[in-house]
Amino acid sequence: MADARPMPAADWKQSVVYQIYPRSFCDSNGDGVGDLPGITSRLDYLKALGVDVVWLSPVYRSPNDDNGYDISDYRAIMDEFGTMADFDTMLAGMHARGIRLMMDLVVNHTSDEHPWFQQARQSRDNPYHDYYIWRDMPADSSLPNNWEAAFSGSVWEPNPATGEYYLHMFSKKQPDLNWENPKVRQEVYALMRFWLDKGVDGFRMDVINMISKPAGLPDAPVIRAGHLQPSFGMVTNGPRLLEFLREMKAQVLDHYETLTVGEAPLATIQQGQDITNVYTGALNMLFQFEHMDLDAIPGDGRGKWALKPLALTDLKASMSRWQDALWQTGWNSLYLSNHDQPRPVSRWGDDGVYRVASAKMLATFLHGLQGTPYVYQGEELGMTNVRFARIEDYRDIETLNMYREAVQDRHEAPAEVLARIHVKSRDNARTPMQWDATAHGGFTTGTPWMQTNPNHTEVNAAQARDDADSVWHYYRRLIALRKQLPVLVEGRYALLQPEDPNVYAYIRTLGDEVLLVVCNFTPREQVFVLPPNVAFEQQQLLIANYVVNAADSVRACTLRPFEARMLVLR
Ligand code: GLC
Ligand code: CA
Repeated sequence: MADARPMPAADWKQSVVYQIYPRSFCDSNGDGVGDLPGITSRLDYLKALGVDVVWLSPVYRSPNDDNGYDISDYRAIMDEFGTMADFDTMLAGMHARGIRLMMDLVVNHTSDEHPWFQQARQSRDNPYHDYYIWRDMPADSSLPNNWEAAFSGSVWEPNPATGEYYLHMFSKKQPDLNWENPKVRQEVYALMRFWLDKGVDGFRMDVINMISKPAGLPDAPVIRAGHLQPSFGMVTNGPRLLEFLREMKAQVLDHYETLTVGEAPLATIQQGQDITNVYTGALNMLFQFEHMDLDAIPGDGRGKWALKPLALTDLKASMSRWQDALWQTGWNSLYLSNHDQPRPVSRWGDDGVYRVASAKMLATFLHGLQGTPYVYQGEELGMTNVRFARIEDYRDIETLNMYREAVQDRHEAPAEVLARIHVKSRDNARTPMQWDATAHGGFTTGTPWMQTNPNHTEVNAAQARDDADSVWHYYRRLIALRKQLPVLVEGRYALLQPEDPNVYAYIRTLGDEVLLVVCNFTPREQVFVLPPNVAFEQQQLLIANYVVNAADSVRACTLRPFEARMLVLR
């Protein structure tokens, strides 16, 4: 059953990971919610796409305040998603197809409905009290510090039974665990072993760089006078972070063949190097956020909602810094999308006339880089953002809380707030997977928990698999190339023309083989001239999103709107 280990650990550098957001992937029983049997029924689809690893967003028991990122039992499957037997069947089905499974490990916080917290909140001398982070509540109820939670409001929630506040970096139903307590760490290691012993192949670790909190929890710098202040910067690089991760590695990860990726908001290059260092680090790779933050105004208290267009030169500078910094000693994860981000084709491509071309261009740009590419469900179809006209159609707690604060507390115009939601809401990524052109995109036979994007009649997997020129077939070919070309895995990255605001071009070099990637990020034609120091005699086109004439030299050419080419130069 679940014992076949399809791939030796060293091969993960050639892997492509596919992320499944189970609530929105495939509903097998018509209750409108995606589930584990639904995933099992689509494994052949993943196999055909050619991915090696699945990252499965949380499927544990949860009251779903934050769609499973609030866990009340780490060893049970959420009722809506199925049973443990369904899980075992799914895992065996993946392994039988040579696909490995990375579970989501959410251990910066639990649900407030977790039995540990239920105990902890009862009294100060409860044995579980020290599993969480508390501060006395003074008579005037003043807050222990000025930190704002990720989903709006203070990070401090009163607990009348003990006369204290507890800390929650996310929603008030997600109390932060106290990692200073060795018992908490042992609980985490034990639950990791539980899943590894079942045969899972690794973990994606939720906000893992937030587990070590600074002593004294001092105030955050004031950006907006008279408000609570953004607080992530205070906790994403705590004093014991590396120590905790190394302990986890020594006590758990070293005893299994695992693949690990840590989610790390605000990660610095230094943190990336420290954590992914093959000799002294702890995890295989990190999700850093630098590129995801480039289209928000820095230092603005509104965070990601302070919209600003992407400058391609910023993207080049950021990606290139990470490519260089982790060269040979660490490893990058490569992503443009996941369940927390808008759809890349709407964000940095064009989801109108050039939807197909720009989705392929963005994929070429990402899959040519060094690191492990991640494909988020629907990205391989060029799925787009959704633009619901009514706030009632949104489900995401971050979106709903932001809307409420902006409209009710700050009296902003609802239409303006909705316009920002259309650009940045996490629900853009969470509308149901579009399998075919039938009702609800074939996701469910019932009423989906969130409405399907109306463009499912055009944008769907059935159409894409029938069309040789689709985004889906393009992804399939890109994924296959990674297995065929060592230069894609090992080649050293170098950016070309850092100042060009329209075309992103780079090379990867391995021995005398040079891989060239050229991407036009605009809806206009652009002239591209290769710098003369890139010497070659022959060019071989590997993949492109337009028909390229064999006589058309990449030395100097005109790129069509969102044109992308990947070539080998010899
Ligand atoms: C991570 C998850 C996100 C979740 C948050 C709190 O950022 O990706 O979906 O809301 O952590 O667990
Ligand atoms: Ca279901």
